[in-house]
Amino acid sequence: PRTIYITRHGESELNMQQRIGGDPPLSVRGRVYADALAQYVAKGNQNFLFLIKSVNRDYILENIPDLIVWTSQMQRTIQTAAKINAPKEQWKALNEINAGICEGLTYLEIAERFPEEFASRDQSKYFYRYPGGESYQDLVARLEPVIMELERAENVLVVCHQAVARCILAYFLDKNADDLPYTKVPLHTLIKLTPLAYGCKLEYVPLHV
Ligand code: F6P
Repeated sequence: PRTIYITRHGESELNMQQRIGGDPPLSVRGRVYADALAQYVAKGNQNFLFLIKSVNRDYILENIPDLIVWTSQMQRTIQTAAKINAPKEQWKALNEINAGICEGLTYLEIAERFPEEFASRDQSKYFYRYPGGESYQDLVARLEPVIMELERAENVLVVCHQAVARCILAYFLDKNADDLPYTKVPLHTLIKLTPLAYGCKLEYVPLHV
């Protein structure tokens, strides 16, 4: 059966400062994850690899021909996928939830500057829409074309963002709107979804970086 791989981008410079949103580049650790991911994807497919002995006696590993990699249009996902040896496609629909007036802030700053907004998000995280931004519900609507393509695709690796990964997982795992925004999607972890006749097999593969 085919596998859908889902991962967040590697740690970004704003993740390090616990700031949300923006379009930051990867941190040093995030770049190490990008390397680890490219290696893992190559290793994980070893059974299907063409092993080519190169001039300097190293083995060059080539991926299965049909693996495709989707990223968002944000530099942190593009940088995370950069070293993977497979065709890539950028989707604007995979961009992270737009936090509107809260972009670039920490949760503490949001609670201080916009206490009512902070409280209403806490009360109804799925439906709460950031002023000038989006809700999880908006995100689910935005992701519909991506999910339709995912249903049709073969082996895909989706390099995306925390909120986006939650929505994709919720679709394949049949999660409800209450649980969706709290699904654990740790950094530096590859999530493997294998659609079976009934439901999906779910595995978390932490890549130690
Ligand atoms: O902190 C990283 C991040 O991807 C933000 O850009 C985004 O706003 C947030 O996670 C989404 O998570 P939550 O809905 O729990 O705030």
